[in-house]
Amino acid sequence: MKVSLVGLTWSAAKADLFVAGYFKGENDLKALKKIDPLFAKAAEAAISKKRFEGKTGEVFSSYQAGYRQAPEMLLLGLGEKKEFKAAALRKAVGTLIGLASSRKAVKVRVLLDSFLTEELPAEETAKILTEISFLASYRFTQYKTKKKDDPPTAPESVELVTEKKEFVSGLRPAMVRSEKIANAVLLARDLNNEPGNVMNPPRLAREAKKLSVEKKISCKVLELAELKKLGMNGILAVNQGSVTPPVLIIMEYGKEYKDQGTVCLVGKGVTFDTGGISIKPSKGMEEMKYDKSGAIAVIATMGLVADLKLPLHVVALAPSVENNVAADPQRPGDIIRMYNGKTVEVMNTDAEGRLILADALSYCAEFKPMAIIDAATLTGMCHHTFGDKTCGILGTDQKLIDAVQKAGEKVGERCWQLPLWEEYGDCIKSHHSDLKNTGDGYAGTITATMFLKEFVPEKTPWVHLDIAGTANCTANNFDCPKGANGFGVRLFAEVLSNWSAENVSKS
Ligand code: BES
Ligand code: MN
Ligand code: ZN
Repeated sequence: MKVSLVGLTWSAAKADLFVAGYFKGENDLKALKKIDPLFAKAAEAAISKKRFEGKTGEVFSSYQAGYRQAPEMLLLGLGEKKEFKAAALRKAVGTLIGLASSRKAVKVRVLLDSFLTEELPAEETAKILTEISFLASYRFTQYKTKKKDDPPTAPESVELVTEKKEFVSGLRPAMVRSEKIANAVLLARDLNNEPGNVMNPPRLAREAKKLSVEKKISCKVLELAELKKLGMNGILAVNQGSVTPPVLIIMEYGKEYKDQGTVCLVGKGVTFDTGGISIKPSKGMEEMKYDKSGAIAVIATMGLVADLKLPLHVVALAPSVENNVAADPQRPGDIIRMYNGKTVEVMNTDAEGRLILADALSYCAEFKPMAIIDAATLTGMCHHTFGDKTCGILGTDQKLIDAVQKAGEKVGERCWQLPLWEEYGDCIKSHHSDLKNTGDGYAGTITATMFLKEFVPEKTPWVHLDIAGTANCTANNFDCPKGANGFGVRLFAEVLSNWSAENVSKS
């Protein structure tokens, strides 16, 4: 897949499909009349008969060998211009790629100028066109043996064309950046769509190492012996039910910026969550291969941070285990002593994410971070609350929460805050130990986060993202087919790209 930007010419080799956006009620065919009078005439006729009005998602297409740009010319309805915001543009681009795929168009040309509005100037539009062209073209087909079973292939190239000379070189850097971001999201999807029998903790560690070599960043993997020596008993206890060893993956970028402070990213890497002895019902359990989404989001982000050459010291920690019922699984009632010394009674072995994150969060102290952000498919309750459209955000520093939430809004990965009031702490106090790993069943997303809070190094601004609902699409979506969607990568990239000391409160 290639996305490029070129000046509009009439002599260029034809594409398979030419697409222009069309706003409802604007009746603007000026540009089109110049580009292809024959097509403009056909469109005009359809518009005058109200066969095409430009409503969102509406399509007018015409096929004729004589057209200059492509044998098939298409107008894509964008709805009312004043309501056309980033979210609508993203959806329109997804629709566009979907239309191109179903027409088996290999080379698509898109009139950039036709999508511009006051709110979405050329750079913003070119960025989104680039990013979503890549994301919507994503397919995960390596396990399809027969070609005919493949989903429709996406176009090989998308050419953005413009009549404005100044755009041609001016917009390229922004598009290059979007391509880097999209590639990181696609890597995350690829790793995450791999099933539990393939992508187990050691394999995930190998992938992190491979990426680190490629991007010239450092990567250290703490293996079984080391985890035992350190007393990372949260990680060890969860993995007790698996014959595959656990790991703690640590990636580090930008040591030279250390004196300006460090940001730690932490991601939950349960490569499969059976629930353990507190086993999950079998219906839908296959989706628990996505329980590694948080780890993969932070790993892919590290590659991206290196690609973007951000001037910031970033450390990613990804504890990875398999929550299984073989070997010698942990039992409900077991009491474990965590890396930071606190004791935990394991009430429910299915509340495993918080146990492995706890050790990784405590271990962040080694890096004396100015901020910690974690991402985890932590609670089914969060999925119930927000569906697949919004991610839960909770934390100890309102400035940091605001910064992350704002970034999410910008990139289309929205977060909504839940409270983290002290009162909720009562729910996770245990009779025989310091803490227990579940509350009373109510406010599950909050009590899970209260548990994590006990392990965050003291006075360190921290934000937790519960991505249980947003990490994967349960059906085909405009910018992502059913499966892993790489949630978190764009959000992290946005937060880290605009990092400032103002993102956290001074203690
Ligand atoms: N990985 C699950 C959470 C999850 C559920 C993610 C559905 C995505 C979709 C997590 O480990 C879990 O099992 N949480 C339990 C906690 C409970 C036992 C307190 C849950 O949410 O049911
Ligand atoms: Mn679980
Ligand atoms: Zn889990």
